Formats: sequence, C-alpha cells, structure tokens
Amino acid sequence: MFPGAATPRDETPTPGRTAVGRPTAAEPVHRPAAAAADGEDRVTEAALRPKDLDAFIGQARVREQLDLVLRAARQRSVTADHVLLSGAPGLGKTTLAMIIAAEMGAPLRITSGPAIQHPGDLAAVLTSLTGGEVLFLDEIHRMSRPAEEMLYLAMEDFRVDIVVGTGLDATAMSLELPPFTLVGATVRAGLLLPPLRDRFGFTAHMEFYDPAELERVINRSARLLEVEVEPAGAAEIAGRSRGTPRIANRLLRRVRDYAEVTADGAVTRQIASAALGVYEVDGRGLDRLDRAVLHALLKLFGGGPVGLSTLAVAVGEERETVEEVAEPFLVREGLLARTPRGRVAMPAAWAHFGLVPPPGPSRAAPPGHQNGNSGQDDPPGGRPGRTTSPAAPRHRPP
Ligand SMILES: Nc1ncnc2c1ncn2[C@@H]1O[C@H](COP(=O)(O)OP(=O)(O)OP(=O)(O)O)[C@@H](O)[C@H]1O
Ligand SMILES: [Mg+2]
Repeated sequence: MFPGAATPRDETPTPGRTAVGRPTAAEPVHRPAAAAADGEDRVTEAALRPKDLDAFIGQARVREQLDLVLRAARQRSVTADHVLLSGAPGLGKTTLAMIIAAEMGAPLRITSGPAIQHPGDLAAVLTSLTGGEVLFLDEIHRMSRPAEEMLYLAMEDFRVDIVVGTGLDATAMSLELPPFTLVGATVRAGLLLPPLRDRFGFTAHMEFYDPAELERVINRSARLLEVEVEPAGAAEIAGRSRGTPRIANRLLRRVRDYAEVTADGAVTRQIASAALGVYEVDGRGLDRLDRAVLHALLKLFGGGPVGLSTLAVAVGEERETVEEVAEPFLVREGLLARTPRGRVAMPAAWAHFGLVPPPGPSRAAPPGHQNGNSGQDDPPGGRPGRTTSPAAPRHRPP
C-alpha cells in the first residue's frame, strides 16, 4: 500500500550494490571477506547487532556525540534532529540507525534510496509516519532527484506538497507531517548534494575500526555464537578484517567452520591463520577483489594513474564496487591513492606484491598520460566533506 514503506533492507533492491560479491561472468567470485552482506550474513547479522549505544563497540567520538544529541532530545521531549551516517559498508550504519530508534523509544521505519524513485514513493512513506517515528533511509545517495527535493521540505518544515489529479483537474495540496527523525545512511557524505547534506543536524562519519576494537567485536560475537576463541585467535582474525566489524564476524564464522571440521572447534591463532589462508584472506586482510584491483593497477597499468572505469573493467567489477567496497580500505592502508588524474599505486602496494616500481618519476604521471582513459569520467572519489559538483558522480540506479 505504501510503496517503499517499512521495507526491510533485505527485500529492497539495491541496483548499484548488487554487484558486490556477485559472481562475474568470467569467474565466480567467492569473497568471504567481502564487506557487503549476503543471505547467511543477514540472518546472523541481525542476531549479532548491538541493541544499544553501550553495546556498540568503537566509534567513540560518534557514540559520544550521538549520545548527547539523543539525550538532549529526550530531556526536551522532542524528536531528535535528523542524523546522517556515512561510512564504508559494514561499519555499523544500519546498526546505529536501529540503536537511535531504540534509544528514543520510537518505532523505526526502514526504506532505501533505490526504493524511492518517484516523489510519490516518498510521499507515501512520509504521510504514513507517526509522530516521533525514526525513518531510516539507507543508501540515501541513490534516491531520485525529484524525491530528494521533496525530502528537503519534509526535513525542514515537516510538510509535503503533492499534486492530486491530472491535467486541468490537478491541484497542489500541502500536507502537514508529524515530527520525525530522518536517519540517512550513505557510503560517502560527499555523494550528497549540499542542500540535502546541510539539512541534517548531525553527521556521523564512521571510521574503520582498529584491531583492538575488532577483537572486542569478535569476542562479543564468539560469546553470542558460543564459539571458543583464544585471545591470539581473535587477534589473528581482527588483523585480517579490513577494519570492518561485518568482515570480522564473517571471518569468525568461516574460522569456526574450519575449527570444527579440522580440529576440536577451539579457535587458536594457528587455526585462524590456516583457515584464513584457505579463504584467501591475506595477512593484511586483503581479499580477492582488493588484490585483483592492486594487481591490475600494478601489472596492467604500471602503477597508474588509471581511471576508475578502466580499472573496474580490468577486474570485471562494477565501478561502484571498486570505488565503494575496495578503495576506501586500500586508500586507508596507504596502498592506493585517488588523484585528479586517476588511481595510483603507492609504494606499499608494490612492496606488498614483492614488486619493484619502474624507475623514473612515473608515480607522478606526465600530463595527459591516462593509460587509455580520459580521466574525465573519473574524478577522484569524494572524501568526507568534499563538495560535490554537478559533474561529480552521483550513483543512480540505471
Ligand atoms: N560497533 C559495532 N559493534 C559491534 N558489532 C558491530 C558494530 N558495528 C557493526 N557491527 C556488526 O557488523 C554488522 C554490519 O553492520 P551494519 O549492517 O550496521 O553495517 P552498515 O554500515 O549498515 O553496512 P552497509 O553499508 O553494507 O549497509 C552488524 O550486523 C553488526 O553485527
Ligand atoms: Mg546498512
């Protein structure tokens, strides 16, 4: 009845993200370390999600700031300000959205950008909200432009303007909305146009987790899953989890399988290391996609610069997958740089593969050297806070 309303994330089509973990035509990609959730994950994820801010591990600053926002709203008995959560896949955005609703004692409505392609979809969701409700709009950067404009008014004035009837009978109607809290999630705040970004009262940038925090995530999940994990085993998994709780949980489950099948079920460092070797997660946590991206960059393009589209084609993935799933971690690890002229391999990438960079100042490519890519379609990926120009990529479903 209300398209897009109360759609659980699992049932929402996410066009740009379906590429994640999907087998390519050339080769089925098995990615135990992939950051996006698939079937089995989602079931376990629901069970492993922390339910309140105290149980939410890491992200100390975000937790403190959010706690203040929510407590102040509770004290004043008003709905909390709109919250934007940005961060790479699997860092806890959906989890935090659920926690916000729980902490406010408010019902939670879940929908996502790809489910909102017409303003009518959004109007249906908005007009069905009850007072104080938390509306979680996942992948908000994939919402259609006309719907986005409707959202501006709803966020600011709690009002929607809708047109009833067609042709000469069409009449504009303005509907009042009950106060609600919008929680938007995006992989990068820079993908949102400033008018939308500025309407959020609080923006939380989720950072990658450090190994000690991931160890806590693993120990907590091990308790819930009733897996016996030695401290050294947890440390081994944490070090290979790409700074991402979802991956830590996933690797824990794969290591548990290995421990149960080949040993007595206890996760030691040795078991964890052997299991992760089987799943091709290397000592630095790079998985098949990460390695494919770096390998293409180094071997096919001499270390770059190369445009994102070219790189994505070379590894047989969607550009969004390379940009949103692989690159944030590679950039953070100092393995890859996004430059105005394209992607460039950093010295650590050459070293990781035991390769020697070609001689000469090739890291700073000469003007015009784009390795077969104009670079026009490949501006460097946005950093948090980057102002998005109209020419910048805004991922829309096809
Ligand atoms: N701070 C945390 N403490 C403990 N577990 C966490 C934390 N953050 C995330 N997790 C675990 O990681 C899983 C993935 O988190 P979540 O689904 O919230 O990520 P996300 O940022 O919404 O990812 P996506 O961008 O793919 O939607 C959760 O099920 C939860 O078990
Ligand atoms: Mg999510």
